[in-house]
Amino acid sequence: MTDGDAPRKIRVVLCMGEYCNLGRRAEAIYQAVAPLIRAANEDDMPVKLETARCLSMCAVGPNLVIYPDDLVLNKQTPASAVEALERYLAQA
Ligand code: FES
Repeated sequence: MTDGDAPRKIRVVLCMGEYCNLGRRAEAIYQAVAPLIRAANEDDMPVKLETARCLSMCAVGPNLVIYPDDLVLNKQTPASAVEALERYLAQA
């Protein structure tokens, strides 16, 4: 198998900073997306969920970024984050 055949490593970075987590809203997003990521890993799709202290775009939070495509998602809710991640993983 060459590197080109290896599954791409996907990282989902969720900001848990002071602004993004106002009212614990980032924690709610974490709880919503964690099962999706667990399921992807069980299906042999390597996805890591990471948290950040600030992604320097507080005014449009809660924020998350999906790598390696640098897909930036602003003003997220648990429902919008799940929807976006499902869509992303389906085409990954
Ligand atoms: S607190 Fe989330 S981007 Fe700054």
